[in-house]
Amino acid sequence: MNEVILELKNIHKKFGKNKIHQGINLTLHRGESLGLLGGSGTGKSVLLRSIIGLERIDEGEIFFKNNRIDQLSENKLTPFRIKISYSFQSGALFDSISVFENIAYPLFEHTKFSYSQIKDQVAEMLKLIDLQGKEELMPSDLSGGMQKRVGMARAMILNPEIILYDEPTAGLDPANTLNVVELMLKLKKKGLASIFVTHDIPSAIMLCDRIVVLHEGKIIFNDTPIKFQKSEDPIVRKFVLSSRE
Ligand SMILES: Nc1ncnc2c1ncn2[C@@H]1O[C@H](COP(=O)(O)OP(=O)(O)O)[C@@H](O)[C@H]1O
Ligand SMILES: [Mg+2]
Repeated sequence: MNEVILELKNIHKKFGKNKIHQGINLTLHRGESLGLLGGSGTGKSVLLRSIIGLERIDEGEIFFKNNRIDQLSENKLTPFRIKISYSFQSGALFDSISVFENIAYPLFEHTKFSYSQIKDQVAEMLKLIDLQGKEELMPSDLSGGMQKRVGMARAMILNPEIILYDEPTAGLDPANTLNVVELMLKLKKKGLASIFVTHDIPSAIMLCDRIVVLHEGKIIFNDTPIKFQKSEDPIVRKFVLSSRE
């Protein structure tokens, strides 16, 4: 098996008396896509946010390659937030600036590239997300699915090794869902590893090498999509069946 690039060891997290994670162990290998399923409020988003230090875990360890990252200061986290990119649930574009400026933002922030290099990189990224030539449009000119793809382009522009997708297809119609999933597939083929939080089980089965189910603070299933579909565990079955309704 490929190199482990992300490892979560015995993660515990609570908010007050609300215990969210109660001993999560998880590994992600180079180039692997992992689908993370779980009911609403089970702590999927909190887990993604914990990986990049937007939430602090109470117990446990998080490693990116051989670096322990869960205890790093904000400053020291910056290079790891470039390697591990988080694609927000909402897409989270800046409304008052153009598509170009949205995608270019991390390049202006974190690199010393010239303006013309940045223009080239953004143009290349727009090609990848099938929005060639749309630099000057504003987010409000775009459909929800296009906005999601622009958000993903921004998350990708610094060449991360891992991308964390928080429900990237939520609220999209079937055509836009397909466009987003096709983009995720393209990125996977480029060798990018990902954790894909979703309720969209058909997309997860199509895209992921491994499916993980989070339930009551623990991982109760962690295996291939084929085993997932054949699982006899009653909680896992509920997820499998919900996608066939
Ligand atoms: N910053 C926070 N403060 C307090 N409670 C939180 C915070 N963020 C999330 N929670 C709670 O943690 C639980 C898990 O949230 P979340 O990870 O968003 O669930 P989901 O699996 O739906 O993504 C929920 O009960 C939520 O209310
Ligand atoms: Mg969530």
